[in-house]
Amino acid sequence: MPLPIVQDTPETLPPPATALPPAARPRPARVLTAQTHPLGLFVETFGCQMNAHDTERLRELLEPHGYRTVESEEEADLIILNSCDIREKSEHKLMSQLGRLKELKRDRQDLLLAVAGCVAQVEGDKFLRKAPYVDIVVGTDQLRRVPDMVAKVKSGQGAQVENAFWDPADGLDADNAFVGASAQADHNGVTAFVTAMTGCDKKCAYCIVPFTRGKERSRPLPSILEEVTMLVAKGVREIMLIGQTVNTYGLDFPGHSPNFSDLLAAVHDVPGLQRIRFMTSHPRDMTDQLIATMGALPKVCGHLHLPVQAGSNRTLARMGRGYTREWYVERIQKIRAARPDISITTDIIVGFPGETEAEFGETMALLEEVRFDNLFSFAFSERPGTAAADFTDVVPPEERKARLNILQARQRQYTRAFMEKHQDAVLEVLVDGPSRFDPTVLCGKTQQNITVNFTGNAAAGTLARVRVEQVKSNTFFGTLLQDV
Ligand code: 5AD
Ligand code: SF4
Repeated sequence: MPLPIVQDTPETLPPPATALPPAARPRPARVLTAQTHPLGLFVETFGCQMNAHDTERLRELLEPHGYRTVESEEEADLIILNSCDIREKSEHKLMSQLGRLKELKRDRQDLLLAVAGCVAQVEGDKFLRKAPYVDIVVGTDQLRRVPDMVAKVKSGQGAQVENAFWDPADGLDADNAFVGASAQADHNGVTAFVTAMTGCDKKCAYCIVPFTRGKERSRPLPSILEEVTMLVAKGVREIMLIGQTVNTYGLDFPGHSPNFSDLLAAVHDVPGLQRIRFMTSHPRDMTDQLIATMGALPKVCGHLHLPVQAGSNRTLARMGRGYTREWYVERIQKIRAARPDISITTDIIVGFPGETEAEFGETMALLEEVRFDNLFSFAFSERPGTAAADFTDVVPPEERKARLNILQARQRQYTRAFMEKHQDAVLEVLVDGPSRFDPTVLCGKTQQNITVNFTGNAAAGTLARVRVEQVKSNTFFGTLLQDV
């Protein structure tokens, strides 16, 4: 049920607790609205892990101001659509959701509607022309301003837009830009996302990310360690270090130091932490040093997501990826030698402008050569402002779709073969707790990031040994053997 707006909401809300390092954080100041009437917050997330993490940050930033997550839009006082702009389809989804919410808002004068994330970042106040009923448009670097923007809308100052990029030179504390403090990506509190860097300087010809996330900025290592230590103290056992090109970490520091290998080693030393994952890596920055580090650190999980995008050198060059097929394959060989347990997944784009049948064939041949355990594949989508949007040698959309179908059918066979290899295997599983779909069984993840449902008793956050009895398309089912 919608809750009434309380008239004494202060115009400027108290500073969010997460703007300060944990030790210095004040208790949330008393906000009358918050204390007396919790307000409903509903966030819908589109897109990647960065957006998922930003959603958690939004929840956390708004909590001291009285907002609590609710299960449905009808119960909400504030609905935030955390948007994605990576492909045209993502933007369509946003606009169709907004069309629906416009109706809801018509019946609910007090309902606030916000658009956050990548579309908001790119469009800024232009977005209000498309959707004038939206109250808040907030870009990827301005999330900490959301409570203040909410207060301004409530006090009658009209729609609010903030979409400037954060520049380290503007004097803002890095923590302020990065920290999601206790933000936990996973509902169970066992796994948490931690931002290592943000933005991207690579400028691949098809990609809108440099426009939505700005230039590369690495987070100071002590700030990352502080957050990881705090999360482990709260019971988190697995950390996912995130960044658009996470393994370029540190390139923007003087002397390029510390780098991503140093970061992994430092996080590895945090007592009580069981596992480290990271996402997403760029092949060009998969250095020998990083591969050796992955080989040497047992807490680093045996899973690497390494987007290749295409198997043809001409396409890779036109995409501006900065490596060749041969470089990529050599990286894979080295990683497999250093970590025989590694599972490798990738991203592929088909139908990039100018991609010939033969060049698509080279991508198919790469699939066979590398044998990815799984992949995400996409038909090329023109994104305004990117270099490839101006390429004229387009592959017709129906041909893109046909290539996508061929590629996905082949990959399904490879993924099936990878999954079936695990029949009767005993795997190490980090226990999440009861399965969301069937609370009578437990669920957890292998190092290779495969979900395992299993019978037996084990506490959340512990490592368990599970025998695989049944292989499904994307998950395993098994029985607990014993705690590791
Ligand atoms: N068209 C299709 N796929 C894209 N990706 C990024 N930009 C585009 C685009 N314009 C894919 C890439 C990237 C993944 C997150 O999305 O494969 O790795
Ligand atoms: Fe986009 Fe390329 Fe940067 Fe990845 S490396 S975020 S694909 S520009």
